[in-house]
Amino acid sequence: MLDEVLDLFRPVPAGWLVDATVGGAGHARALLEALPQIRLLGLDRDDEAVAAAGAALAGFAGRAAVLRARFDEIGDSLAHVGAEGAVGFLFDLGVSSHQFDTPERGFSYRFDAPLDMRMDRSQGLTAADIVATWEERRLAGLFARHGEERFARRIAAAVVAARPVLTTGRLAEVVAGAVPAAVRRRGHPAKRVFQALRVEVNSELDVLPVALDAALERLLPGGRAVVIAYHSGEDRLVKERFVRASTGGCTCPPGLPCVCGAIPTVRLLKRGSRKPAPAELATNPRSESARLRAVEALTPDERRPR
Ligand SMILES: C[S@@+](CC[C@H](N)C(=O)[O-])C[C@H]1O[C@@H](n2cnc3c(N)ncnc32)[C@H](O)[C@@H]1O
Repeated sequence: MLDEVLDLFRPVPAGWLVDATVGGAGHARALLEALPQIRLLGLDRDDEAVAAAGAALAGFAGRAAVLRARFDEIGDSLAHVGAEGAVGFLFDLGVSSHQFDTPERGFSYRFDAPLDMRMDRSQGLTAADIVATWEERRLAGLFARHGEERFARRIAAAVVAARPVLTTGRLAEVVAGAVPAAVRRRGHPAKRVFQALRVEVNSELDVLPVALDAALERLLPGGRAVVIAYHSGEDRLVKERFVRASTGGCTCPPGLPCVCGAIPTVRLLKRGSRKPAPAELATNPRSESARLRAVEALTPDERRPR
């Protein structure tokens, strides 16, 4: 979705654009090359990503800064570069290819490695801790809620019975053994369980709404926020935040004039979410579940009840 992201940010005014999930700086680099009016602040909670992005953006000295930060710390991060607001926020959520493809990070069932899954390796909680200590009902709730896993209860029972489950390979095996054979033939059966654990380990759904609110508050007039989400829990949160900002939280019945006085602060640039084009899917199958949403901040004159 790189071209679409570039097109969405092309019209923003001059100022700081925050890449809140800078990763390997693929988007960041392309944005700096395509948009001469911006300076880019890249954030990531992963030390390896911060080092990689710093190296990738070294040629843009003066126009780029990279900080190790969780993206709900947007306010402090902007203050660090002497800015209060930004003309753009990009959130490309989830795990980077680097994290996913590095066996010892423990994100992938394709390798056998310790069950880790921490994006920020200075934090204490790992996926192994959850798998080892949570009681069966709590595990089942997690797999159902964050993984939308139909067989959550069977899998949770199997995990508890198989303890200790210390590695990605062993967990993938236990999950595969717990689901019906027909499910094993449809993609990897551990995919949803791994997703649920990763979301929990990294508090992904707790941090995201705080970060979106912070970004929407600091988006300067004409500035744009773009979010690419990779699972429905994330996408629902993004939709809810964007729709609320675009109505100001108006409670009046649709079709009737607003009498509640709510003031919209953004306009939606996309109705609903956008899926990747077939050409992108062919070259990058991981983009299959990507959903893009975007908004533009209204000018003070445009901010009035709908
Ligand atoms: C999908 S990758 C981004 C890839 C990037 N757009 C690129 O072009 O290389 C997501 C990145 O966001 C980081 N990340 C995820 N949640 C974060 C959070 N709450 N705060 C800061 N970084 C986060 C991850 O560590 C990972 O490096």
